[in-house]
Amino acid sequence: MESKSLPQLGIAPLPEVVAALTLEEKVKLLIGMGLYPEGFDVSFLLPAPPDENNTPERVPGAAGRTHAVERLGIPLLVLSDGPAGVRISPTRKDTNQTFYATQFPSETLLASSWDTEMVESLGKAFGDEVKAFGVNVLLAPGMNIHRNPLGGRNFEYYSEDPVVTGEMAAAFVKGVESNGVGTSIKHFAVNNQEFNRMNLDTAVNERPLREIYLKGFEIAVKKAQPWTIMTSYNLVNGTYTSESPDLLTKILRDEWGYTGLVMTDWYGGKNPVAQIQAGNDLLMPGTLEQYDRLIAAYNSGELKPSELDACVTRVLELVLKSPTFHGEPITNAPALKANAQVSRKAATEGMVLLRNESQTLPLKAGAKVALFGNASYDLVVGGTGSGDVHRAYTVQINEGLAAAGFEVVDSLAKHYTVHLDAEKAKLPEKRDILELAPVLPEAAISISLLAEVADGADYAIFTLGRSSGEGGDRKVEDEFELTNVERELISQIESAFHAKGKKVVVLLNVGGPVEVASWRDQADAILLTYLPGQEGGNAVVDVLSGKVNPSGKLATTFPAKYLDIPFAEEFPGKVKPGLSPEMRGFEGPPSENSYQEGLYVGYRYFTSFGVSAAYDFGFGLSYTTFQYNSFEVSLRDNEIEISLRVTNAGEVAGREVVQFYVSAPTEKVEHPARELKAFSKTSLLEPGSKCEVMVKIPIDDLAYFDDQTSAWAIEEGEYTIAAASSATDEGLTAKVRLPGKLVLQSRSLMAPAVPIEELQR
Ligand code: BGC
Repeated sequence: MESKSLPQLGIAPLPEVVAALTLEEKVKLLIGMGLYPEGFDVSFLLPAPPDENNTPERVPGAAGRTHAVERLGIPLLVLSDGPAGVRISPTRKDTNQTFYATQFPSETLLASSWDTEMVESLGKAFGDEVKAFGVNVLLAPGMNIHRNPLGGRNFEYYSEDPVVTGEMAAAFVKGVESNGVGTSIKHFAVNNQEFNRMNLDTAVNERPLREIYLKGFEIAVKKAQPWTIMTSYNLVNGTYTSESPDLLTKILRDEWGYTGLVMTDWYGGKNPVAQIQAGNDLLMPGTLEQYDRLIAAYNSGELKPSELDACVTRVLELVLKSPTFHGEPITNAPALKANAQVSRKAATEGMVLLRNESQTLPLKAGAKVALFGNASYDLVVGGTGSGDVHRAYTVQINEGLAAAGFEVVDSLAKHYTVHLDAEKAKLPEKRDILELAPVLPEAAISISLLAEVADGADYAIFTLGRSSGEGGDRKVEDEFELTNVERELISQIESAFHAKGKKVVVLLNVGGPVEVASWRDQADAILLTYLPGQEGGNAVVDVLSGKVNPSGKLATTFPAKYLDIPFAEEFPGKVKPGLSPEMRGFEGPPSENSYQEGLYVGYRYFTSFGVSAAYDFGFGLSYTTFQYNSFEVSLRDNEIEISLRVTNAGEVAGREVVQFYVSAPTEKVEHPARELKAFSKTSLLEPGSKCEVMVKIPIDDLAYFDDQTSAWAIEEGEYTIAAASSATDEGLTAKVRLPGKLVLQSRSLMAPAVPIEELQR
């Protein structure tokens, strides 16, 4: 009865609804509720806010929920991970029905497709699953920069480059949100490692902060206005990101024009009052301590009514947009079959052919394949942690080969089945979702078995598998580098097969770069499959067989050796005595990581300092070749208009990724040798056919952040624009002269107390 006379959300003006909320209701709206899946060890969880324990879970296995205020017509919202598929429990207590979601390829693979249209349509299919399961906000995409190849969650992020990152995220967000559900771009910001992520203070100068670490987020916000943003766990220059008004209000809302909601990462930050005041609207998954602290702060006057109401209003604006508020039905029947095909197709578009001597690939139809390596039979389809997905099945590579009419050597398959069963039986039971998957030792193959197999098979394929996941970073030895057993195996396979004049193919089933320079000459072909999702086996074989001509290119450099990364030995930061950097912990005593390389991250470093990589950013082979000509560059209406003709000069149809790099004048201000400003992927070009690629780069995109004047500015002078096939390909170049311009006068925000001494060219 009472509710009839009370202002109802969506009917009464929003300020009236806010005014009708009690203080306790407001505070509950600002903190969430967590997840309690059956059998989950909740002993580490903090005491929950009021109501949580008696609110039935709507979507078991989702990461969290918001509170409802039924008397004012405010329903609760469900938030769920993650970047590669909806992560919910596949089974439920009260039914035999299953709730599997599609596992899509990891973000690193998607970025290597350089195909924003594909990523948007994948997002559309993905978002349909989000909606079907009754989830309101998908906690994805991750978009931190691949600063160091050991970053444990790099597989959940796109690239070392902010333009690729921002464009991919914008496309994904648009696709998912076209279903009327939300996304959460994360982890905002500078969360480039897992080690000690809850207590790590990242020291970074303002220029790299703005140009490298915030730029991708800026692009995604301006192009796609995601419904929500998730702050990161770490501190930047002394302040937790979730407690930083500079980041969440001055930069994000005032400068970029963001209108959506900001939430914390799960248990992120320390001071709830500072979080609300900074503009971090929702604290997830909510604790009793936060609840008590906010009520007390309000009562003491520390937290002003306007500060509280600003965040409450944004929570309600999110509710107003949500499918739950609109009464959308929960079907629990996503288009799993169709989406599996979306996942397969996407995986083929992002795989990168790194080496193909004497046209080893594609494989000859119907060939007999000797399939080596654990991952050939136990594919790593995605990473672990909150980015994991409960999928209905995995297509293994041996299954993909058989389905495409290849013959797989049976004795080897049996050998690996026995080996994998034995190795898995030795593993302790997984305790929680943050436990990392170990690299399983490779099976020894006797010389006699090798000789027998090499006699009968047409090709050897060895799959190198690496998992990684949330909660820890990777190691150099035995993770970035190959284990001795893996090296030995590759050598033995090579000798046995090359002795018989047969080719050796290596598949890299990894989440990020591994060391390849020392052994790659032993392989005739190398295909980087990344973590390809549940249809991985089929997708790999689509590329191996030539059904799909590979068109992926690296969105992250493969260094020749780990120490080639600038300040590699400093990673993951200065750790206090007693804690070793090898520890896989994500919570330790305060530590610091100083970003001394400044702007020189990834290819910006390799190209500026003349260091050769094993495989460059932007590099990837095809079964055909492309020619670039008729390159034209002109300046019109504050835009650089570029056109280029791309011709398929080979024998099979294919797609080419063209990259546009800009080299700025360096007389007065330092700039990296070249920086990616745009890219374009052609449609499928038949042999001999051509297409015109046209892109426009707004000149404002050429601005740099001048930390002397705290302004985005364009330097006057001559700029070289290149259309190139990788970061080290000179490509076709043209010059344009630009007048100086002040693009945006900002302020000094988030600066380190003492500027970091940076690497100089
Ligand atoms: C992760 C987030 C994730 C959240 C909810 C955190 O541990 O860092 O990426 O969305 O958990 O599961």
